[in-house]
Amino acid sequence: MQALPGFRDFLPNDCAARNYIFARWREVARRYGFIEWDAPVLEPTEIYQKKSGPEIVAQLFNFTDKGEREVAMRPELTPSLARVVAAHEREFKKPLKWFSIGQFFRYEKQQRGRLREHFQLNCDIIGETALAADIELVSLCIDIVRAFGFTEKDFVVRISDREFWTDFLRSRKVAAEQWDEILQTIDKFGREPREKTSEKLGQLADPVLRILSEGGKSEKLDRLVDGLRARGLADFVDIDVRIVRGLAYYTGIVFEVFDRAGQLRAIAGGGRYDNLIEQLSDSAVSLPALGFAMGDVVLGELIGETASAREAMQKAIAAEQKIDIYIVIAKEERRADALAQIQKLRDRGYRVDYLLTSRKVARQFQTAEDLGARVALLYGDEWPQVAVKDLATGEQKLTPNQELLAYVARSLSLSS
Ligand code: HAM
Repeated sequence: MQALPGFRDFLPNDCAARNYIFARWREVARRYGFIEWDAPVLEPTEIYQKKSGPEIVAQLFNFTDKGEREVAMRPELTPSLARVVAAHEREFKKPLKWFSIGQFFRYEKQQRGRLREHFQLNCDIIGETALAADIELVSLCIDIVRAFGFTEKDFVVRISDREFWTDFLRSRKVAAEQWDEILQTIDKFGREPREKTSEKLGQLADPVLRILSEGGKSEKLDRLVDGLRARGLADFVDIDVRIVRGLAYYTGIVFEVFDRAGQLRAIAGGGRYDNLIEQLSDSAVSLPALGFAMGDVVLGELIGETASAREAMQKAIAAEQKIDIYIVIAKEERRADALAQIQKLRDRGYRVDYLLTSRKVARQFQTAEDLGARVALLYGDEWPQVAVKDLATGEQKLTPNQELLAYVARSLSLSS
């Protein structure tokens, strides 16, 4: 029996890599003053049908539950966030700065960088229209990727503005009902044959294709880049009006993060969605909002392919997996004494391990080394003295069992 296509088993090394990613996500989000929240993994299908756009709806894992409700495994967090904020916004001072780490499900064709489940970090700011919020959000996104050891040579944030395109469509007198479809076509530019794009755009094909190849100018985007320049982050971004994002709810600045080599799919994406909360609110709560999500799959691939980032991760994982103290039981008669000490050491917060059944002393010392223990305590013939061995230097000293706690605390703090 295997896991379903597009679903992963997380063996210990995979879990360690996942935890490494989550720890950095959490740490940098906290550095920016964001607080953590979460939502259910199962939601009414309707919230995605209403707001996410056709691409995501086609990818839903959805079913009718035993109470005849139409439900879906969450493909993204933003509609849940809008629903929760609309219901609870009065309980919080604005702007809200919320982050969340969780698993998401999309029935996509499995390919490199795309699975049927993935984890995302979502960071959102609610209740702020000023461009300062967009600058803060993009800075956070950059700093999160930097926390994995990547530089401006490794990744780029491509930034655009949906208003650039909606202003263009308005100037061409295109009816608002058609905007979504045109934006979806622009989003797919480069992924679909050019003739198909031209056909879908009709009369707009020439001017749109011209902008897509020559680029566009926007005063708002220039100000955003200036804000990032003031923080020393301008080298991490490019203005690129080809980015419009596949999701339907964005209204303003949008961005996506890519590896510079252009080998992988997007690492992260987001933007402003100033109307979504109002649209999902029963009581006409209207709040501007913006956010992004970063996935673990593409980020994990980039880490795996970049020697420095991979080594940093392996080093952090090795340090995280080490234990402090290994107990070697040389005489079975001493097992009960050893276990009493193990309990005390664990109560103090040390990571302590030992073999559950009798084994040769050499094998026990080998296990101590394999587990990266700093100190081994040997319970044997010298009782009530215990031999304390520093596994880095090989130095060994006899200590009375009653004095062990203080002795071990001292030697571990000296060697750390
Ligand atoms: P999204 O661009 O659909 O945005 O997803 C964000 C990131 O999640 C992508 O850049 C990608 O790294 C990862 N991702 C998405 N689908 C998959 C998949 N099938 N397999 C692996 N990774 C995947 C959103 O979800 C928006 N809700 C983000 C947002 C938050 N906008 C405002 N706030």
